[in-house]
Amino acid sequence: MCGIVGYIGAQQAAPILLEGLSRLEYRGYDSAGIAVSGARGAAKVFRRVGRVQALAAAVPAKTSGRVGIGHTRWATHGAPSEANAHPHASSDGRIQVVHNGIIDNAAALRARLTAEGVELASETDTEALAHLIARSTEDTLEAAVVSTLAQVTGTYAIAVVDAANPDRIVVARHGSPLVIGVGEREMFVASDVSALVRHTSSVVHLEDGELATVTATGFRTFTREHQDVTKTPTTVELTVEELELAGHEHFMHKEIHEQPSSVERMLGGRLDDRFGSARLDGLRMELRELRGFRRVKILGCGSAYYVGQLGAGLIEDLARVPADAEPASEFRYRNPVIEPDTLYVAVSQSGETADTLFAVREIQRKGGRVVGLVNVVGSSIARQCDGGIYLHAGPEVSVASTKALTHMSVGFALLALALGRVHDLSHADGARILAGLQALPGRIAEILADEQLIADAGRRLADARSLFFIGRVRGYPVAREAAQKFKEITYRHAEAYPSSELKHGPLALIDADLPTVAIIPDDDLVGRNLAAAHEIRARGGRLTVITHKGVDLGDLDADRIDVPRSEPELDPILLTIPTQLLAYHAARTLGEDIDRPRNLAKSVTVE
Ligand code: F6R
Repeated sequence: MCGIVGYIGAQQAAPILLEGLSRLEYRGYDSAGIAVSGARGAAKVFRRVGRVQALAAAVPAKTSGRVGIGHTRWATHGAPSEANAHPHASSDGRIQVVHNGIIDNAAALRARLTAEGVELASETDTEALAHLIARSTEDTLEAAVVSTLAQVTGTYAIAVVDAANPDRIVVARHGSPLVIGVGEREMFVASDVSALVRHTSSVVHLEDGELATVTATGFRTFTREHQDVTKTPTTVELTVEELELAGHEHFMHKEIHEQPSSVERMLGGRLDDRFGSARLDGLRMELRELRGFRRVKILGCGSAYYVGQLGAGLIEDLARVPADAEPASEFRYRNPVIEPDTLYVAVSQSGETADTLFAVREIQRKGGRVVGLVNVVGSSIARQCDGGIYLHAGPEVSVASTKALTHMSVGFALLALALGRVHDLSHADGARILAGLQALPGRIAEILADEQLIADAGRRLADARSLFFIGRVRGYPVAREAAQKFKEITYRHAEAYPSSELKHGPLALIDADLPTVAIIPDDDLVGRNLAAAHEIRARGGRLTVITHKGVDLGDLDADRIDVPRSEPELDPILLTIPTQLLAYHAARTLGEDIDRPRNLAKSVTVE
C-alpha cells in the first residue's frame, strides 16, 4: 500500500527519495511523487501515474534541494491520476504533505474548505491536510500540524515540509507506521525500514499519537499535547543485499528458494531436546499460564488466515486443545465474545495489517491475551501484542507471500508443541515432532530440487481459465492457500474445496477445461482422497496430484508431484511448498508481473 520517504541533510534529496520509493514498490501502488525544497522558495513537485521509473524519468537531473518527501500512492479517495498523486500542496504551494492511511471525515473537511473559498485541486483526503496546516494561525509548523490533526478522524502517517521552515520535516503517526532513520548529519523518514537500509540501520519507531520534528542533525519526538518523548534508536538487522534479486528472475522465486536456510535459522535455539518441547521465551508466559488455556483462537487475513487454519489443526493434533482460525477482518466487526481462558494468536507477515491490528486491540480492550506470530520486528502488531514468536523469515519483497507463510506454519508447529507438552503430548511424541522440525529444511530443499518437474506441471495449468484445489482435513488449508497463491499471480480463477464437498455441487463444473490440483498425503484418508480424484478423472477433469512417494495412484492419469514424508502432523508444511512453485511457473508462462500483481499490496494498512 502507500509508502512514504523523506530526506533532510547535506546530499541532494531527489535521488535519495527516488531510490527510497523504488524500495517501496513491492508494497503495491498506482502513482508516485516527490517534493524537493531548497533553502528558499516553494518546493519543486513531480508526480506521475504508474511506476517509480516513470517518475524518475520526469525529474530533471539538475533538480536541487536538500530536503524532500516522496510517496507511492494506492488509490483510496479518487482514481489513480496525477492530480490525486501525493505530495499534496496548500493553495500557495508553501505546505507539501504525503500521507498513508485514510481520513474518515475528509468529505466534511473538504466541504468546509470549499465553503471558505479554497479551491481543491484533487479528490483526495490528504489535500485537506495541506490546506488546514497552511491556514492554521498557530505560531509554529509543529503546532499547526497538531491543531490540524485534532480536526481529523481516521488513520495516518504523514510527512510535511514547509517552504517557510526549510530546515525541517514534521511527521506524525496514528494507525499507519512511520520510522525515522538516523544518519551522520542527515536524517530519513519512511513508512517501512526497507526504504532506509541503504543509508542507515539506526531507526526510531514512532508510536500512535506521536509526532516528530526531523532536522539534518537530529530529531525531537513529542505528543499531541507537546510533551517531549525520549526515544533511543534501535538497530535494524535488514541489509541491502537481502533486498536484491541475487540472480533470481523474481523475488518470489528467490524467496521460495530461501526457505531451507531461513527455516533452519528460525528454528535455531528454539528446539528444546531435553524436554521434547519448544523454547518460546518471546511468549512471556509461565508454563502454568500456558497450561491454563482451554481454547486457542487464531486471527489473520488472507493467506495468514489460511495458515492460521493450518495452525489450528496443528494445535488440536498436538495439544488436544480446541483451536480455530477466523479472518481478523470478520472477527473485529462482529462484537466477539472474549474469553479469559482462550489464547488469542494474531498472525501477520508485515505486522501492519489494519484488520489484524484492530482485532488485537479489540481483544485486549475486553481483557483477552494476544500473542503474535509476526515477521517484521518492531511492527505495529508485534508491539501491540502481549508477547509472541518472531518468524525471522527475513524480508519478503514479493507481494505474494511464500517463505513468510512457511515460517508462520513452523511458528504454529512450535506453539502447538509447547502447548502440547504442557497438556497431553508425551515426551516421546514431543521428541518425534522435534526431529521432524529439525529435518524440515532438508526436506524443503528436496522438494525444491524437483523444480523442473513441478514447473512442467505448472506450465500445463497455465492455460486453464479456472481451477479447483482440493484437500481434506490437514490438506484443506493447504488447498486454500494454494488456490490463493495461484489466483493472485496468474489472474486465473482458482477455488479451494474440501475434497468431499465436490460431490455436493461443484463437481457439475468438472470437464476437460477445468483442472484440479489434489492434495493427497499418505495418511489414513488416502483412500478417500484417491476416490475423489477418480471421480474427477471419470468426468474428464485433468489432475495434478501432490502426494507422498510410494502412494499408489493406480491407473489415475495425473501429473504427479511427490513430497518427502515427514511426521504426519507436519505434512501440510511440506505439501504447501510445491504449490508455490506451481503458481510461480504458471504465472511465468503467462508472462505476468509476478512480484507485483495488479490491485494488491504487500502491506494492507487500510481497513
Ligand atoms: C497472499 C498475501 C496476503 C496476506 C494478507 C495478510 O500472498 O500475501 O493474503 O497474507 O494480506 O498480510 P499480513 O501477513 O502482512 O498480515
